[in-house]
Amino acid sequence: MKIKAGFVQFNPEFGAVEENLSRAWALLAAVDAQLVVLPEFFNTGYLIASREEAWRLGEEIPHGRTTVALAEMAREKNLHVVAGLMEKCDDRLYNAAVLISPGGYVAKYRKIHLFNEEKLWFTPGDLGFAVHDLDIGRIGIMICFDWFFPESMRVLALQGADVICHPANLVLPFCQEAMITRCLENRVYAITANRTGTETRAGKSFRYTGRSQIVAPGAQVLLQASEEAEEIGAAELDLAVVRDKRINPYNDLFADRRTGHYARILS
Ligand code: ACM
Repeated sequence: MKIKAGFVQFNPEFGAVEENLSRAWALLAAVDAQLVVLPEFFNTGYLIASREEAWRLGEEIPHGRTTVALAEMAREKNLHVVAGLMEKCDDRLYNAAVLISPGGYVAKYRKIHLFNEEKLWFTPGDLGFAVHDLDIGRIGIMICFDWFFPESMRVLALQGADVICHPANLVLPFCQEAMITRCLENRVYAITANRTGTETRAGKSFRYTGRSQIVAPGAQVLLQASEEAEEIGAAELDLAVVRDKRINPYNDLFADRRTGHYARILS
């Protein structure tokens, strides 16, 4: 099965949810794909100054403003969307992402590996790494810094993920390169949707690295955006390639794992 999948790379304005949703809508409407990934915190911006601020920007999933708006976009454009936002649940906040189909909300993921000061504002994800079996393929989700832990993509790949959707707000320069290896070692596709721009707030400044990309199981970078521009992109993904884990006549990526030697990873 072949699908067309892509990303929206843009520069959200901190706290301006309505403007960011409008901008995302305009960009999303221009992508020719069945699956589109938007950045982490695409609706709010990233650089939070206090827990109160994060609380104010958090939304319920699936009934909050952003998830409802995304569901409307997905229905109107007949596409699947993965997008990152702050989730408010009881008295907790999560760094979350939603998966939405043309028929509506499907699932959420809560970031498991929190980065830097995110640990001050958010509760670590408690829903695990899940794969969603849809008519466009098996979709796995991780958020930004999860890439730093190879276990994230491995666990998704072992559950049968075809495409890893990766909303991001990357500030370190390593991820785009690392994802090439992650795709090769797991034989999966990955779509990293990063943001651009610089945020300076409360005496701190983050510059985001852009270069959103689509990487294939054979380590090919099918498409990569620039470092600074708002851009959209899409590529054709052949899911049959992912589902065949043979590397050569003698090696199979999963069958050749020597799990008896890996026990230490779980301790
Ligand atoms: C990150 O996880 N936003 C770097």
